[in-house]
Amino acid sequence: MRMKILVFGGSGRSGQVMCRFVRQTGAELLAPLHGECPLENTRAVSDMVLSSGANLVVNCAAVSGLEACGDDPLRAHLINAVAPAAMALLCRHTGARFVHLSTDYVLDGRRAGLKDESTRCRPGCTYAESKREGEMQVMEAFEESIIARVSWICGNPDKPGFPESTVTKALAGQPLSAIADKTSLPTDAEDIARAVLMLAADSSAGGIYHLCAQGEPMSWWDCATIATDEAVHLGALSAPPEIARQKLDEVPFFREPRPRHTAMSCKRLAQHGITMPTAEESIRRAVRRLLRERG
Ligand SMILES: NC(=O)c1ccc[n+]([C@@H]2O[C@H](COP(=O)([O-])OP(=O)(O)OC[C@H]3O[C@@H](n4cnc5c(N)ncnc54)[C@H](OP(=O)(O)O)[C@@H]3O)[C@@H](O)[C@H]2O)c1
Repeated sequence: MRMKILVFGGSGRSGQVMCRFVRQTGAELLAPLHGECPLENTRAVSDMVLSSGANLVVNCAAVSGLEACGDDPLRAHLINAVAPAAMALLCRHTGARFVHLSTDYVLDGRRAGLKDESTRCRPGCTYAESKREGEMQVMEAFEESIIARVSWICGNPDKPGFPESTVTKALAGQPLSAIADKTSLPTDAEDIARAVLMLAADSSAGGIYHLCAQGEPMSWWDCATIATDEAVHLGALSAPPEIARQKLDEVPFFREPRPRHTAMSCKRLAQHGITMPTAEESIRRAVRRLLRERG
């Protein structure tokens, strides 16, 4: 039977790549735009899932900006918690698989080191609270759901992540700075799409998964250094640019608190035979893709 996959948030950074990946597998793709299915409208969500005939629903939609969530907590709660729970409930009803993307920001980020799925959660801002609420409501609505916690998405040149933005600035000769005292693991959206589809195809998969690139936790400064190094290696930059080290607490436009140490290890993913590349490889690949696209 040909797979039919419904993707919410298909215009977003991860959603665009998810949609491309789904098409490449030969599966039938349904990807309603925001305006066609606004997630605050539960009737629209219900009609979409029920009429789709999808055997897999992937939710890449979210209010993903921390400040946007802080400015409108009700909207954050509706889109990041209520809507995914409704999707999960509807999937339980139709028998479809359900995969929901969540975030490393739900974790307790006070201590350094890699965190596996048994690490306690301690959301410290409206975004993280709404995402954690979403995780819990999704599992309560349909316990066979898959929740994939992802981090620092890159690799989509049309919706650049931090490595691509850094290289773009460097190519324009702009001054560079990056936060050096906060760590995670930048992850290629293509690897997220691949792992999500592999998990969804595995009938033994369910519950919360950490889904990110592997390696030692790195800061945005490390990430910027690797990204510009790759641009030098490819001949796009003549020399490594200077990158000023910033402190998390000194960024003026961050109004919401960010957890400091949220790099994840993918213990449960590995139990399903799914491996992820290193964050360094993911960053270099994202830069290669960006430069290829720019010609
Ligand atoms: N980006 C990261 O580095 C990162 C890190 C950790 C976790 N995550 C998680 O990964 C997931 C995907 O993130 P992303 O960066 O790909 O998100 P994104 O680029 O911000 O895209 C969000 C998507 O959701 C849609 N959307 C937002 N509000 C909606 C509404 N009310 N009704 C319908 N659609 C709506 C957007 O459509 P429009 O653009 O048309 O509004 C867009 O397609 C999210 O769950 C996020 O929390 C992301």
